[in-house]
Amino acid sequence: MQTAQEFFGTPENIAAMGRSTALWSLLRGDPRFAYYGRLVALSQPVENTSDVLISLARLQGASPCYFFPKSGVDTLFAELERKGLSADRHEHFQGGESAYMAARATLAEHHLPPDLTVRILDGNTPDSVLAEVIQLMESCGVMPVPASFLRGSQGNGICLVACDPHGAPVAVATSIFMHPAESDHANTVFWGMLATRPDRRGEKVALVLGAKVIVHMWEEKGARAFMTGVRQDNASSTALCNRLGVIDTEFAYAVCVDPQTLGRDSVTK
Ligand SMILES: CC(C)(COP(=O)(O)OP(=O)(O)OC[C@H]1O[C@@H](n2cnc3c(N)ncnc32)[C@H](O)[C@@H]1OP(=O)(O)O)[C@@H](O)C(=O)NCCC(=O)NCCS
Repeated sequence: MQTAQEFFGTPENIAAMGRSTALWSLLRGDPRFAYYGRLVALSQPVENTSDVLISLARLQGASPCYFFPKSGVDTLFAELERKGLSADRHEHFQGGESAYMAARATLAEHHLPPDLTVRILDGNTPDSVLAEVIQLMESCGVMPVPASFLRGSQGNGICLVACDPHGAPVAVATSIFMHPAESDHANTVFWGMLATRPDRRGEKVALVLGAKVIVHMWEEKGARAFMTGVRQDNASSTALCNRLGVIDTEFAYAVCVDPQTLGRDSVTK
């Protein structure tokens, strides 16, 4: 079980991470569920998707169902709302080998601005650096995961950070395994939590960091597909994902929210 100091961020996010960590300690062997440190979710639809999502949302504040067909979202959301819950969605973007090829092509063509250096967060990263990375994510509207996932000590993933000459983080990108080992999606990993400090946007920092993360996960960890949730109106995120071969699919992340527990009505950007 993690300790409270493993969680950083707003009181709401710290509370949500504490609830999801506790729930995951109970559910981790169950092949229905996926988790990369943020919220315990349905890995894909099940027979009683709405009932399971409602229970997960009441316990945690919110819960997504990945690989939910876009064609069924309206019906599901009407049912959630009828039962007094709120609903939210991200489009389920994904890319397989084409993402890996696009990432390699990107790295052959583009480099980070020369004043930036890349660091991998790990067990030796000082808490103060981690706190700055999390502050960057939150200032960009991205909900971070617990420190142990960002450091790679839990969840089998990587978090890359680009730092300026003063050591301050200017951009971050993350990827983490998330689906049950016995699932068809076992090698489909979360990719995202991309955030660039506003004064360093437009320099292809997120593009290069995101590409590095994809190549690392494919070559070093055996990831074979990369998924992320994108809001329909998030033009910058859509452009960035498309550049890296991570594209919209026939699926959505169908999210059930219990605003009273979560303290707001959406999870993240
Ligand atoms: C999304 C975000 C990380 C992009 O960071 P960035 O470092 O400025 O992005 P890059 O310079 O690497 O641009 C990558 C690609 O996205 C495109 N892009 C970036 N911002 C864009 C915008 N506002 N509108 C349209 N396209 C945009 C760029 O044109 C580029 O494509 P190109 O190489 O074909 O020109 C940044 O805008 C951000 O932090 N947004 C808030 C947090 C967020 O929404 N994160 C995504 C959550 S999934």
